[in-house]
Amino acid sequence: MDHANTIKDIIAKYPVQRGVIIQILQDVHGRYNYLPKEALDEVAKQLSLPVAKVYSIATFYKAFSLKERGKIIIKVCKGTACHIRGAELICNELENILGVKAGGTTPDMKYTVEEVNCVGTCAMAPVIVIDDKYHGSMKPEKVRKLVTK
Ligand code: FES
Repeated sequence: MDHANTIKDIIAKYPVQRGVIIQILQDVHGRYNYLPKEALDEVAKQLSLPVAKVYSIATFYKAFSLKERGKIIIKVCKGTACHIRGAELICNELENILGVKAGGTTPDMKYTVEEVNCVGTCAMAPVIVIDDKYHGSMKPEKVRKLVTK
């Protein structure tokens, strides 16, 4: 994967380089669905910043993933309302279907399952978010209809 040109294109969009590193990392994340090590190194190089500084920003924000993720991201809300209403059953069902625990990615790189804090729709608990689309009042059988391997 040639990161140099991709990073160069992204950085070129921002005139004040140091002040917009988070936006740059967001764009990089959007492009690759995670922050590849080589891409972070390239950002640091092209911004003339220490690699450690770029990494500290990349690791500070939970929205950034440093691990390669699947094409489809499934977020399981583990906030209090969802927890009380059976989020664990949803996680178990996803594990049954996909064979990966929360935090894992299927070997074919199709799905990544992540646990997240309250997504702000507690009235619909338990909630999962599949590629930014919210699905509420989840039950294992609903998971089976939404997610197929
Ligand atoms: S706790 Fe899950 S949406 Fe609030």
